Amino acid sequence: MRPALAHGLCSLLLSLWVPSSCSNEILGLKLPSEPVLNANTVCLTLPGLTRRQLEVCVRHPDVTASAIQGIQIAIHECQHQFRDQRWNCSSLETKNKIPYESIIFSRGFRESAFAYAIAAAGVVHAVSNACALGKLQACGCDQKRRGDEEAFRHKLHRLQLEAMNRGKGMVHGVHMEHMPAETPGLQDSWEWGGCSPDVDYGEKFSKDFLDSRETYRDIHSRMRLHNNRVGRQVVMDNMRRKCKCHGTSGSCQLKTCWQVTPEFRLVGSLLKDRFYGATLIRPHNRNAGQLEPSHARHRRRAGISELVYFEKSPDFCEREPALDSLGTQGRLCNKTSPGMDNCESLCCGRGHNILRQTRSERCNCKFHWCCFVACEECRITEWVSVCK
Ligand SMILES: *[C@@H]1O[C@H](CO)[C@@H](O)[C@H](O)[C@H]1NC(C)=O
Ligand SMILES: *[C@@H]1O[C@H](CO)[C@@H](O)[C@H](O)[C@H]1NC(C)=O
Repeated sequence: MRPALAHGLCSLLLSLWVPSSCSNEILGLKLPSEPVLNANTVCLTLPGLTRRQLEVCVRHPDVTASAIQGIQIAIHECQHQFRDQRWNCSSLETKNKIPYESIIFSRGFRESAFAYAIAAAGVVHAVSNACALGKLQACGCDQKRRGDEEAFRHKLHRLQLEAMNRGKGMVHGVHMEHMPAETPGLQDSWEWGGCSPDVDYGEKFSKDFLDSRETYRDIHSRMRLHNNRVGRQVVMDNMRRKCKCHGTSGSCQLKTCWQVTPEFRLVGSLLKDRFYGATLIRPHNRNAGQLEPSHARHRRRAGISELVYFEKSPDFCEREPALDSLGTQGRLCNKTSPGMDNCESLCCGRGHNILRQTRSERCNCKFHWCCFVACEECRITEWVSVCK
């Protein structure tokens, strides 16, 4: 294994603003200097923006850059979650443009619902974390979850003095595990400290940037808006608290906590569960503003946390570009798997061949601000089953 920051990787992520990210500087494993993110470098080089998105971009080019990075991360996660399915999300990988022109985004399939939700989640996630990293002009740490630093230093100083008087040594900071994000309670005393990502800003930007694509209120539009909201909510509902104890030798006389966003892998898995539980809706004239499930026995407003779709998915077995179906010919399958990647199911009954194959794949990928991803290259030789 060796680090391979090859051209494929440079183009993988947003090389549009940083063509220099494929220079020797990167190959020499030095990080590039931070790119200039202004309207010219971000908005005018990015095809596929609607007029309203362009306006948002011009107002906040740096946040838009971060949002696009979030969409790319979301698409990678989509590919991970769908790696064993016939439709495996690979068609959403678009070079140097936002992926909303892909066919899946223009349809009303379950897969479309997932794609909208995860992209919207990616935007909240990336933007709010970039806020916390101090990378964006318009936002920073979450003010609602910000401690009084002056008071904190004061208390710490007092602890320090007390400890010294008792000859107990220094006050140490000890990190603690993640816990559900809550507000400070009575029995468990702690206060906000450090920097929590501004998820409210991330959510608002995700709305401004993505929901503004929708200019009609037809079923399609309503489905997209709903699924965008579901995706954003999954990030917001899974914020965690991280804490640090301050006190003499391992005690916890003073505890400060801050919020962190969930790992994006968790967001992907939660949305994948929602994909299986998605609700089929139908246009409903009397209630034009609502999404109503198609089964009478389930008749109620589709839940806020459910993905909704209105078109039955095709089987994705054969190549059908008009449906965003690449077909499954040539796909690796697993003879013994009980899941969707079982050869019988993945090859749609066409059968499979067994081949010895050496492949290299990207592994241990890390995303760097801003805007590229660096991966290692892993080589694997094995017997594989491949769909006919
Ligand atoms: C996804 O499907 C496409 C088309 O069948 C295939 O070329 C690609 O290798 C698949 N990706 C993965 C990760 O299996
Ligand atoms: C195939 O599926 C089985 C059962 O899930 C699993 O144990 C095995 O590792 C898989 N093989 C490959 C090559 O992925």
